Amino acid sequence: MSPFLLTRTLPLDATDAALRADVLDGLTRKPKSLPPKWFYDAHGSDLFEEITRLEEYYPTRAEREILRARAGDIAAASGARTLVELGSGSSEKTRYLLDALPDLHTYVPVDVSESALTNAAEALPAERPGLAVHALIADFTQTLELPDTPGPRLVAFLGGTLGNLLPGERAEFLRDLRARLSPGDSLLLGTDLVKDEATLVAAYDDAAGVTAAFNKNVLSVVDRELGADFELDDFDHVALWDAEHEWIEMRLRARRALTVKIPELDLVVPFEAGEELRTEISAKFREEGVRRELAVAGLRLDEWWTDTAGRFALSLSTAR
Ligand code: SAH
Ligand code: AVI
Repeated sequence: MSPFLLTRTLPLDATDAALRADVLDGLTRKPKSLPPKWFYDAHGSDLFEEITRLEEYYPTRAEREILRARAGDIAAASGARTLVELGSGSSEKTRYLLDALPDLHTYVPVDVSESALTNAAEALPAERPGLAVHALIADFTQTLELPDTPGPRLVAFLGGTLGNLLPGERAEFLRDLRARLSPGDSLLLGTDLVKDEATLVAAYDDAAGVTAAFNKNVLSVVDRELGADFELDDFDHVALWDAEHEWIEMRLRARRALTVKIPELDLVVPFEAGEELRTEISAKFREEGVRRELAVAGLRLDEWWTDTAGRFALSLSTAR
């Protein structure tokens, strides 16, 4: 059987320190906010997978359609021997790439969610004998210590997760990523596209309330990890389209005036009735904007593929 290796590049207490810093910073600023990476404990990762199966949540289906159609083109253009996947989650759609890449030597899934990584990566060696799987528990916004594996490398960043970074964070992320690519390496990027508001809002406010549960899960994470006393029923899930920034914003709105104690931070956080805490942005893109952001980072967009309904795009870029 082929090797499976799990490396934790951040010690557990570093994750804990990062959560403390983000919660202290985010809940003491106005307006309040928390970074979306804290959604993804084991329960949050399961909820995300449930979201991907919802009728209203089209991005996963749309991206799968493109991958199914274009995996051969991607394999031919990249010639990848190493596939690095950032925010790999369940690695479900990745199987199209794994099947299409004839010379693939190593797959490196990178995720902050240990449960998502182990569920996905443990199954692969049995499914793909001969493929080395080196899973990394790491934050892709921090400097990544990638294993020394054969090139060329294809870095896949699927699902539209780039859109969960703020514009400044995106620019920094792409610049840092470009600096780590060698000539001949490429980037496969999934980006959700601007479309009508009703479709977008429904995708983030589904009828079954799965996205609401996913959104509130960040409060459960803060309760469990930092001893806070957030009551999930004190908050409403809010998803709205910000037409100026062209992003969906998810928020949690306090149903009444309340205070939350966070003993681990020695902090008491007041909420006014109706006050909102931003938990995620999900930026939607246009081809020209993606091309420009990549070019600023030193990446040349070579291919742009959409699903037949034109909802989602995959682009393939190479280091200039
Ligand atoms: N790529 C998959 C999963 C998308 S969900 C798909 O397309 O379906 C986003 C994934 O990114 C989750 O698994 C989450 O744990 C991970 N993630 C979010 N922020 C991250 C960060 N800063 N560093 C590493 N992984 C992150
Ligand atoms: C992971 N990311 C691209 C998802 C998105 O659509 O922005 C996260 C998500 N948030 C609510 N639903 C799904």
